[in-house]
Amino acid sequence: MSEPAHILVTGGAGFIGSHTVDALMTRGLRVTVFDNLSTGYMGNLEQWDGHPRFQFIAGDVTAEVTQPLTLAVARFGHIERIAHFAAQTAVPISMDDPAGDIQSNLAGTARILEYARHNKVAKVFFASSSAIYDDDAPVPVSETSSARPSSPYGINKLAAEFYLDYYARLYGLCSTALRFMNVYGPRQDPKSWYSGVISIFLDRAVTGKPITIFDDGEQTRDFVYVTDVAEIVTHALLTDAGNNAVINIGTGVEVTINALTRTILDLAGSASPVRYEPARAGDIRRSVTTMDKAQALLNFAPRVELREGLQATLAWVRQEMTRPAARSGSAA
Ligand SMILES: NC(=O)c1ccc[n+]([C@@H]2O[C@H](COP(=O)([O-])OP(=O)(O)OC[C@H]3O[C@@H](n4cnc5c(N)ncnc54)[C@H](O)[C@@H]3O)[C@@H](O)[C@H]2O)c1
Repeated sequence: MSEPAHILVTGGAGFIGSHTVDALMTRGLRVTVFDNLSTGYMGNLEQWDGHPRFQFIAGDVTAEVTQPLTLAVARFGHIERIAHFAAQTAVPISMDDPAGDIQSNLAGTARILEYARHNKVAKVFFASSSAIYDDDAPVPVSETSSARPSSPYGINKLAAEFYLDYYARLYGLCSTALRFMNVYGPRQDPKSWYSGVISIFLDRAVTGKPITIFDDGEQTRDFVYVTDVAEIVTHALLTDAGNNAVINIGTGVEVTINALTRTILDLAGSASPVRYEPARAGDIRRSVTTMDKAQALLNFAPRVELREGLQATLAWVRQEMTRPAARSGSAA
């Protein structure tokens, strides 16, 4: 019997990456996580610590990757597929340091693509973002909507998509880029200033601290639960589905921040006061995706509805409060 395929997950100690590792490990594959732990946590991977099909390699995609990946290959053999999540993920940081963002998000991706080309990797998944769209694009956005990023983060995600296309045409390297809308769920770090709105609001609701809404709260987002994302990433990575395509991943459901806040306070049984502050520069008014391409190419239908996903995330937030060591970044 042949050995299970060896999959590399860059950024696999992070929020979405670690759920994807769970999905891959559950399918019986061999998984190497390559991560610099800048925003990821070993606690997100503790369920696989010591597992014979799992290894963690500390490394940075802004530096040469072939040498550290030699160690991964020595243990688990040829890397068949790569899920590339490693990135600087904060839009405001990209605005403060565009050159740094190019290093992490564009040069880092080019290094992974070069590795894939020279090492006969069968397919690369790339974590793109709805940040590539024009803020003024009419909603719902589809993959053909105007791409005009309003941040270096969005510019570098879009440029990276062009690199995928270039590698497909020149070298026949197979890939899929999924443009995520707002992903939420357990393991999204609520402590970071740049975290998703749901992880921050849940944290504040549970601790009874005030919740701050920028603007009037009638702005909208499309929130997709992290296990639905991990499943569709795994599907695209392991099959020919979505080959050499860019596809939006959301739910198609537009939720106002006011409605989201009411649901969070209700589920948490919280009396946190809600405050309103002026809109922040760069925040878009409405965000929601069409589902047509994801349905047609990936047969994607999100399973977890918002209330159910919020409940599960709330349970995780409460559990984390009882074991703060899990959020430590030290490598095991
Ligand atoms: N969370 C969202 O809603 C969302 C939306 C759109 C796109 N994305 C994209 O999905 C991917 C994962 O995002 P996330 O929310 O899980 O963020 P995250 O910060 O939890 O995960 C990023 C991971 O990459 C690692 N990393 C960062 N820079 C690295 C480097 N130079 N070398 C090696 N590892 C590095 C971090 O330590 C972390 O483990 C990112 O590419 C992000 O841009 C996320």
